[in-house]
Amino acid sequence: VSDRQRVNVADFEAAAAERIEAGALDYFAGGAGDERTLKRNVEAYAEWELVPRVLVDVSAVDASVELFGSELSMPLAQAPVAFQRLVHADGEEAMARAADAAGTAMCLSTIATATPASVAAAAPDATKWFQLYVFSDRAVTEALLAEAVESGYDAIFLTVDAPFAGRRERDLRADFEVDVDAPSVTAAIGSDRPVSIKEVFGLVDASLDWDDLASLAAGCELPIVIKGLMHPADAELAIQAGAAGVVVSNHGGRQLDGVPATIDALPMVAEAVDGRVPVLVDGGVRRGTDVLVALALGADAVLAGRPAVWGLAVNGEEGACEVLEILKAEIRLALALLGCRTPADVTRAHVQRARRS
Ligand SMILES: Cc1cc2nc3c(=O)[nH]c(=O)nc-3n(C[C@H](O)[C@H](O)[C@H](O)COP(=O)(O)O)c2cc1C
Repeated sequence: VSDRQRVNVADFEAAAAERIEAGALDYFAGGAGDERTLKRNVEAYAEWELVPRVLVDVSAVDASVELFGSELSMPLAQAPVAFQRLVHADGEEAMARAADAAGTAMCLSTIATATPASVAAAAPDATKWFQLYVFSDRAVTEALLAEAVESGYDAIFLTVDAPFAGRRERDLRADFEVDVDAPSVTAAIGSDRPVSIKEVFGLVDASLDWDDLASLAAGCELPIVIKGLMHPADAELAIQAGAAGVVVSNHGGRQLDGVPATIDALPMVAEAVDGRVPVLVDGGVRRGTDVLVALALGADAVLAGRPAVWGLAVNGEEGACEVLEILKAEIRLALALLGCRTPADVTRAHVQRARRS
């Protein structure tokens, strides 16, 4: 499998599974509980069909979008994924360069194996977003935020679906522990040894609420995007509190198992937001055609987490870039075949529910 020509995300996933050590593979591939939501995220896309319009001049398709002040080559960016050095020694720096080469943005996790500053130095011209976990010790949070701001990050993605870590049973069974450092966290808490995943989540402030978000947004010069909501009423509260955007996300099925697929939660959130801020969705995007379904159901763009990580595992920066380029090519072709020149041309009328016999 590994040496055959790899033409899609599934090919990279299969090749990555041969390269990543068993415990780490379960950490990256797995979800919470019975992994129902993990599976639903992917499967729910197959319940939508694309309805093309024809004889539209698609000789010049432009897949680019503007998000939070940056232009991206496509409506897809790299989601924050922790501990990327577990799959490749070049880690998050390679992922940032790959995203930059593909013309899109990378969101760096708080629990990355590289600091915001070193990732910025590795990809100085890239569009970079920083994913924030708010720790009980607010000085730690402020130190992380300050480093991201000073290093030239373009937006902050505040993750709100993980006051505690989900029960990831594959990791529990294997007693999986990371053997790489998350330097921003260890530095911010003044630890002299790597902190475990459990310890990191033990530091997260589970009391965080909408008032905290409002003060965070008021005190931060960068746009704050709320990542990890599923309910339209929460999207409204996010906007009231000053959010510059929202990400409909269930953390790739790794937090509360049994929640709907994100593509099914998207339409109601998009309706509530009503164009006031960008709406993103993540979870289960494996094809350019999935991205078009998301656009049709109200998203301005999507994030993808695991796909480019599989690329990183297979061939470092080059592999991650190849995955992003494949997704971009799929998006561009699907736009043209759907009869759309740009992502903004994709409407609700371009999809329908698949009929079940
Ligand atoms: C191994 C792994 C680690 C993750 N770490 C983080 C993280 O540190 N912060 C965060 O906000 N989301 C994290 N996520 C969630 C992703 O940002 C994203 O929501 C999810 O991967 C989307 O699903 P997909 O992998 O099906 O594209 C992680 C996901 C995976 C698979």
